[in-house]
Formats: sequence, C-alpha cells, structure tokens
Amino acid sequence: MTLEHGVPEKGDNVACISKVMDVATVAVIGGGTMGNGIAHVFALARFPVVLVDTKEEFLKRALATITDNMRRQTAKSILTPTLMNEALARLKLSAKLEDAAQSDIVIEAAPENLDLKRDLFAKLDNICAPRTILATNTSSIPIASLAAATKRGDRVIGMHFMNPVPVMKLVEIIRGRATSDETYETARGLTLKLGKVPACSNDFPGFISNRILMPMINEAAWALHQGVATKEDIDTVMKLGMNHPMGPLTLADYIGLDTCLAILKVLEEGFKDPKYKACPLFEQLVSQGRLGRKSGKGFYDY
Ligand code: CAA
Repeated sequence: MTLEHGVPEKGDNVACISKVMDVATVAVIGGGTMGNGIAHVFALARFPVVLVDTKEEFLKRALATITDNMRRQTAKSILTPTLMNEALARLKLSAKLEDAAQSDIVIEAAPENLDLKRDLFAKLDNICAPRTILATNTSSIPIASLAAATKRGDRVIGMHFMNPVPVMKLVEIIRGRATSDETYETARGLTLKLGKVPACSNDFPGFISNRILMPMINEAAWALHQGVATKEDIDTVMKLGMNHPMGPLTLADYIGLDTCLAILKVLEEGFKDPKYKACPLFEQLVSQGRLGRKSGKGFYDY
C-alpha cells in the first residue's frame, strides 16, 4: 500500500530484495545534453546503445559531442583510445523510434514538455516488448503522469542523471506509485554498473534534487532582480562562501534557463505554493532567446 505520490506506508517493505531483470541492451531517446551524456556512460559501461532522435543532424551533433567528451577523458587518461573506440562502436544512431523496440530498457531524455513525453511513452508502450522498462530522465515531471500514458505502470521509473553526465556521480531514481520492486532494483543495479550512486525519491514534484536546487537558483535570480548585488558577486558568494563548484546563476545558465523555468512551473503548479513562483527574469531572458550556455547567452554571455 502506498499513499499519495507513492509514499510508502508504515510496514511497507521497500527494502525487500526482489528480482533484478537482466539488461543487455539500452535505448536512449533524445540526443541533447542529457541524452548524449546518458548514451556515453552506458556505451562506456559496455552496453550496446541505440540513440534515437528525430533528425539526422541532431544525431550527428550528439555523436560529435560524445566523441569530444570521450577524447577529453582519453586525454586525462580516464579512458584508453581502445576503450573509447570500443564504446563508440557500441553506439548506434537512429532517427526511428521503432529501433528502440528490441531494448531491455529505454531511457527517455526528450525536452521537459509533458505532452511530448506522454506521447513518447504511449508510442514506446506500443512499440516495445512487454518486459521493456520505460525510464525517464525527467527533472520534475511526475512519473505517474507518464506511467498513465502506458499500460505498464509497474515498468515505468525515473532515472534522473545530472549534467555533465560523464562526470556527475548521482542518479536520482524516482519510484512512481505503480513502479514494481523489480523495476526499481533493476534501475538501481544499472546505476551501480555505470559506476554511479543511486538516491531514491518518491514521486513528488521536483523529486529531491530540484525541489532543493531550484528555489536556491530562483532566490539568486530574485537577488539580482531586486538589485541586491551583481550576478558576479551573487555567484562569488555561493562559490567561495559555500564551496559550490559553480555560482547559482552560472549553474542556471549551465542547466538552461528554459529548463529552470519549466521546473519552477512544475513546482509551483504541483505544490500550489507561490513560494516557487519563478523570478520574472527567467521569462524575460527566455523570451529573448537567452537560454543560457546552449544559446550562447543567459545571465552571462559566452
Ligand atoms: N564529459 C566528460 N568530462 C567532462 C565533461 C563532460 N561533458 N565536462 C567536464 N568534464 C571533466 C573535465 O574534463 C574535468 O576533468 P578533470 O577533473 O579530470 O580535469 C572535470 O570534468 C572538471 O571540468 P573542468 O576542469 O572543465 O571544469 P570545472 O572544474 O569547472 O568543472 C563541472 C566543471 C564538473 C561542470 C563543475 O563546475 C561542476 O560540478 N559544476 C556543478 C554541476 C552541477 O551542479 N550539475 C548538476 C546540475 S542539475 C542537473 O543536472 C539536474 C537538473 O534536473 C537540473
């Protein structure tokens, strides 16, 4: 039995050891920043990966990014040229969603748009074998709303990777209300095989990571908006005063201001709490095409 948002009731044995499904093949949907990073780490962990996107040009760009990032790791002796070439040989690119059909797990990393993701989940549910796990890399969309687009709620789960995926150790694993123990244990085991550390969240808006991160980033934007300090000084305080690797405005640019705005909206609507209301600077910058690092301009110019 679970309560709303999949919170276990007292007495639920959430830690019970259950079967783990064998995962031999992986599909990643979306070759953007997160998707290419996810394909990168699975290929390095010796999984054959099919990376699916809608256009050949997106796939070419994704492969170029993966190759650059692997070269960067080779230059630092994290990888050998042989391991890099073997990993690249495990990657197949495809512009057809049907090519995900044979995979044991599909990890969806499409843009943060509920309708788009629901449509993808409905299509994947039809295309893939009944045993296939459908995972999403969503940063805040409820797992339940994606599971509802399928007839396999027990096999739907969140696997939320952090950017840059090849570097960041965490995978936040989100159990939907209907996610089975087998699906959860399989996602957890896969995370460990990637050399990453899983942390489990129930299906609340923003999960753990963005429920805590986004209010901090939003507060930094409000501080800038209200003239408390310059962007540089706000970032310096958090970087040097709190030992964060990046200041919050630099991090917002790194994540993407459109993504930050979308997550803040999910938090505000999900909790019906105005404390999550996005600072107007996000709407302003996004409407000017200042999406952060990916568009060359955000809070900062790159
Ligand atoms: N692929 C492979 N390696 C990469 C990489 C990539 N895409 N990006 C960086 N690296 C490597 C670099 O080669 C470097 O390796 P060494 O330590 O061996 O030298 C290392 O990572 C550090 O990179 P840099 O020297 O270029 O720069 P840095 O020291 O400033 O670190 C950073 C960059 C790792 C991004 C660091 O600034 C950082 O940790 N920033 C915070 C990132 C963060 O908070 N991510 C989470 C965002 S939230 C999210 O993703 C989820 C969401 O839902 C919004």
